[in-house]
Amino acid sequence: MTIRELIKKTEAELSEVAIPNFISDIKALVAFSLQTSLAQLYAMQEDEVNFNLEQYWALISEYKNGKPLQQITNRQYFYGNEFYVDSNVLIPRYETEELVDYINVIIDDRKTKKPGPLTLIDIGTGSGAIAISIGLENPDLKIYASDISEPALRVTQKNLTKLECQNVELLQGNMLEPFIKEKIKADILVCNPPYIPKQQKISARVKDYEPHVALFGGEDGLFFYHEIFKNWEKVMKEDGILCFEHGYDQKRQLEKLVRDYFPKKKYKFTKDVNKKWRMLFIYLL
Ligand SMILES: C[S@@+](CC[C@H](N)C(=O)[O-])C[C@H]1O[C@@H](n2cnc3c(N)ncnc32)[C@H](O)[C@@H]1O
Repeated sequence: MTIRELIKKTEAELSEVAIPNFISDIKALVAFSLQTSLAQLYAMQEDEVNFNLEQYWALISEYKNGKPLQQITNRQYFYGNEFYVDSNVLIPRYETEELVDYINVIIDDRKTKKPGPLTLIDIGTGSGAIAISIGLENPDLKIYASDISEPALRVTQKNLTKLECQNVELLQGNMLEPFIKEKIKADILVCNPPYIPKQQKISARVKDYEPHVALFGGEDGLFFYHEIFKNWEKVMKEDGILCFEHGYDQKRQLEKLVRDYFPKKKYKFTKDVNKKWRMLFIYLL
């Protein structure tokens, strides 16, 4: 059987299961089984299959049962780098790359307007996607990244080593506590907190496979924003910036909170590439 025939056969096998993007996922799983890249796979369509088909169908069966592609291959591309991911961390999402982009612009702007060392904290770092991507782009920045989950931090450490990122230090603990304990004062705070409301229905692929500590943000999904809005002064320099990702339908509630907690501060909400409200920036000066 050729690679092309195997792909067709797998497509037929999965056609009755409603999995978005399953055709591109199948190609990714074939490339994974061949230990090659997607680009190479296209050049190998007429080659005979030379890997263990039993193992391949076992992967397809896991996929069919709901396991995300990224947890099968243990990889997710984010901001141009291949991150290791497993069931202990949220699979980094493409929308979050946009947050990283905005923060890189903020950093450049800060460097021009106020030269000198800059410190960034990333709360709930998970795989380290945000902290490591920013760290690699800005090797002169000092970054502290935290998570409450020790298994998640083991994944972050793995990615720090894999991607040779030198300027990110890891801290374990609840929200701002480790930063307060270490007396860290930051210029930029980043947080993509768990923001799904507790009762919200979400796809089984997410609910059954991704860690709940990374998903749910209390009754209304806003628990972690409250926590930071209440206590930011303990960890921020007075001219700092707070940067958040949030759910596409949370702008209205979040804006009310921002007005309550920061009546005199400037803030900005930004949409993602899908035209959904996704990011919030609060200027503390
Ligand atoms: C939505 S995930 C974001 C992961 C990563 N920053 C990203 O953008 O892909 C939220 C992260 O917050 C962590 N977390 C949950 N509760 C926390 C808490 N009380 N203190 C610190 N981190 C927490 C979770 O373990 C998870 O890694």
